[in-house]
Amino acid sequence: MALLPILRYPDERLFRQAAPVEAVDDTIRRLAGDMAETMYAAPGIGLAATQVDVHLRVIVIDVTEDKSGLLVLVNPVILSRDGECEGDEGCLSVPGIYESVTRSERVRVRALNLEGQPFELDAEGLLAVCIQHEMDHLEGKVFVQYLSRLKQSRIRAKLAKQARITA
Ligand code: NI
Repeated sequence: MALLPILRYPDERLFRQAAPVEAVDDTIRRLAGDMAETMYAAPGIGLAATQVDVHLRVIVIDVTEDKSGLLVLVNPVILSRDGECEGDEGCLSVPGIYESVTRSERVRVRALNLEGQPFELDAEGLLAVCIQHEMDHLEGKVFVQYLSRLKQSRIRAKLAKQARITA
């Protein structure tokens, strides 16, 4: 397993749409393993393949405190959504920025697991929000794009400053 570099907003590669995975093979299993390791090391609760510059529909999530709930979703699709909730979100591609976003409170998702088998999952609360956030990445969307243009330009300026300091 290996730690993968995470793209930083506003890197234009974050705005690419990911392609469906055609076969869940060892390459995909290795990618998911590396993504999980990268997410835990960051540390974060979710990571989309887009963020490590692999433009395939794979996300990893673990919203537990003890890293006991790793969830890998390949080719995820939201079947239904219900309710609304608002809460602060952050993103490993937008370090240090936390802003409020409105999401569906509950989602039902269908995806493939690492054996290539389809499964369905009912998620609510943090897990539901995380799934929506990571699935946005696969569409080339970063959560700050839900914010006002003014906020987006302030965030870009702040990240550019951080990048100069750490370079
Ligand atoms: Ni993110």
